[in-house]
Amino acid sequence: MTKTHLISGATSGIGQAIAQRLQAKGDRIVAMVRDAAQAKDLGVDGLVVCDFAAPEGVREAVAKFEEPIHSFINCAATTLGKAVFTSSAAEVAHVLNVNLISPMMVCAELKKNVQAGGAILLVSSQSAYRGGFDDAYNVSKGGINTFIKALAIKMAPAVRVFGIAPGITLATRMTRERKADDLAPIREQIPLKRFGDVNELAELVDSLLGPAGAYITGAVIDVNGGNYLR
Ligand SMILES: NC(=O)c1ccc[n+]([C@@H]2O[C@H](COP(=O)([O-])OP(=O)(O)OC[C@H]3O[C@@H](n4cnc5c(N)ncnc54)[C@H](OP(=O)(O)O)[C@@H]3O)[C@@H](O)[C@H]2O)c1
Repeated sequence: MTKTHLISGATSGIGQAIAQRLQAKGDRIVAMVRDAAQAKDLGVDGLVVCDFAAPEGVREAVAKFEEPIHSFINCAATTLGKAVFTSSAAEVAHVLNVNLISPMMVCAELKKNVQAGGAILLVSSQSAYRGGFDDAYNVSKGGINTFIKALAIKMAPAVRVFGIAPGITLATRMTRERKADDLAPIREQIPLKRFGDVNELAELVDSLLGPAGAYITGAVIDVNGGNYLR
């Protein structure tokens, strides 16, 4: 049977690679986008238009979405790019709205859509554990990890809930913004001596959504080349 996946962040980077891989298998993709015009070139099967900066609007949009789905894959996220010392409350709240509160609202409304045997996959980050300069981002991903555990218990046994926590992954907008000179010393510290790749994450997600992941729930899987071991 054809599976339908609802994916946020499918316009770029990791989300786009996951959407393309699942679509290549013949699965249906419904993309969550800020603006319907963005989706013209995505070639997806459906759209839920909402801006994760406004969690109430996100909740309303998902409440109206009635299709049964096999999985929700949350890839949408934003960064602030500075520490809390120089951040306003509004800036921190924006990051938390996009990265944490909106995904929570999506999951709350999707209880009606996710079919038994389906899954919710929330993309976290190694920053949840390792910290880094962007406090709002780090906290948002720590929150996602906690939510994964709490939701996994609530949705079991019908639906599995889990996460992946990538390290620095190339070919995304987030990493394109970082300078090569800044990245080189970081690469040297990674035991596997390279950064991650969007396509290997897409392959992993595809596999975890299938039988290989059937006994995984509540877990957040590190995909960081050994850069952070916990
Ligand atoms: N790349 C890395 O090194 C890395 C490492 C660890 C974790 N991650 C995580 O992986 C996920 C994907 O990141 P990426 O690197 O692929 O980033 P990316 O290329 O910057 O893509 C971010 C996606 O989020 C969407 N988005 C941002 N703000 C939004 C909003 N207000 N409403 C709706 N959608 C919004 C963007 O949509 P628009 O096209 O509308 O902007 C875009 O599709 C994120 O959760 C990120 O935290 C990435």
